Amino acid sequence: MFIGTEKLTHTYMPGTPFATEALQDVSFNLQQGEFALIIGPSGSGKSTLIQHLNGLLRPTSGRVLFEGIAVGSNKHELLRLRRRIGLVFQIPEEQFFSESVFDEIAFAPRNLGLDESEVEKRVNESLEKVGMQAEKFRNRHPFRLSAGQKRLVAIAAVLSLQPEVLIFDEPTVGLDAISRKNLYNLLTALNQKDGLTVIISTHHLDQAAALADSVLVLNQGRLVMAGPAENIFNKRKQLYELGLTLPPVTEIMHELAEKGLPVKTAVYTLQEARGEIKNMKRRYKP
Ligand SMILES: Nc1ncnc2c1ncn2[C@@H]1O[C@H](COP(=O)(O)OP(=O)(O)O)[C@@H](O)[C@H]1O
Ligand SMILES: [Mg+2]
Repeated sequence: MFIGTEKLTHTYMPGTPFATEALQDVSFNLQQGEFALIIGPSGSGKSTLIQHLNGLLRPTSGRVLFEGIAVGSNKHELLRLRRRIGLVFQIPEEQFFSESVFDEIAFAPRNLGLDESEVEKRVNESLEKVGMQAEKFRNRHPFRLSAGQKRLVAIAAVLSLQPEVLIFDEPTVGLDAISRKNLYNLLTALNQKDGLTVIISTHHLDQAAALADSVLVLNQGRLVMAGPAENIFNKRKQLYELGLTLPPVTEIMHELAEKGLPVKTAVYTLQEARGEIKNMKRRYKP
C-alpha cells in the first residue's frame, strides 16, 4: 500500500445536534504512480476524504496510511507529510495573497527555510512545469491573470514543494473548455512523465475518465465502489443511480453495445471511439 485509509470515519461537529457523518468506514489503497479518481455526487464526502489524505483533518475513527505507516498527529510529522503530498484546493486562486506570481509560488519553499537562490530555482522550475514562462509571468499580479493562468499558478505553488503525490479537489471547476484541456494535459504529464501519483476528485467525468487507472466512488460518506477504472466505468447503471454519468462518447458506445453491435465500451475519447467504430464496420456482418 502506498496511500490509503482503514475504516476512516469522519464526523463534523460530533456530539452536537449538527453532527454530520461525512465519511463512514472508508477503506482503500492506491499504488504509487497511479492516476486515481474520487467520484461521487455533491455532499458525498470527496473534499473531506481529500483533506484527510494530507493530514488536514483528524479521523474521528480509523486511520490514514502513507507508505504503510499511519499518519499521526505530531506536528513535525504532519509538516513532512504535507511536503510529500501536495493538495490543490477547490478554486485555489481564491486563497492567493501575494502581490506577484513569484511571491505566491515562493511562499512554501521560503517557509521551508530554503535559501533564496534555491527558492528562485524552485519558482522557475514550477512555472516551467505548468507551461508558463518564468520571465513573462514572475512579476505579474496573480489576481490579474486569466482564470486558467490563476489555476496554473496555484498548481505551481504546490509543485514548488516538489511533492510525490498531488491531490486535486475538483480541479476543473470554473474553467473553460480550453483551460480544462490544458489542465488535463498537465496532469497527464505530471503523472506519466514525472511519475507523480495523482488523485483528483470530481463530480463529473468528462476528460478525467480517460486518464484514470483506478476509481473510488463515494455516496453519502460511504465507499460504494472501488477498483480499476475499466471495471467501475462498466457499471453504468449503478453510476447513473448515483447521478454520475459517463462521458458522452462512452454512453454512446454502451448504447451501441446494447443494440448488439460488437464494440468495446471502455472508450472515453472521440479518437478512440472513431477507431472502435471503424473496426466494428470491418467486423460487422449483419
Ligand atoms: N466544515 C464542515 N462542517 C460541517 N459539515 C460539513 C463541513 N464540510 C462538509 N460538511 C458536510 O459533510 C458532508 C460531506 O461534505 P464534502 O466532503 O464537502 O462532500 P463533497 O466534497 O463530496 O461535496 C456533507 O454533508 C457536508 O454538508
Ligand atoms: Mg467537495
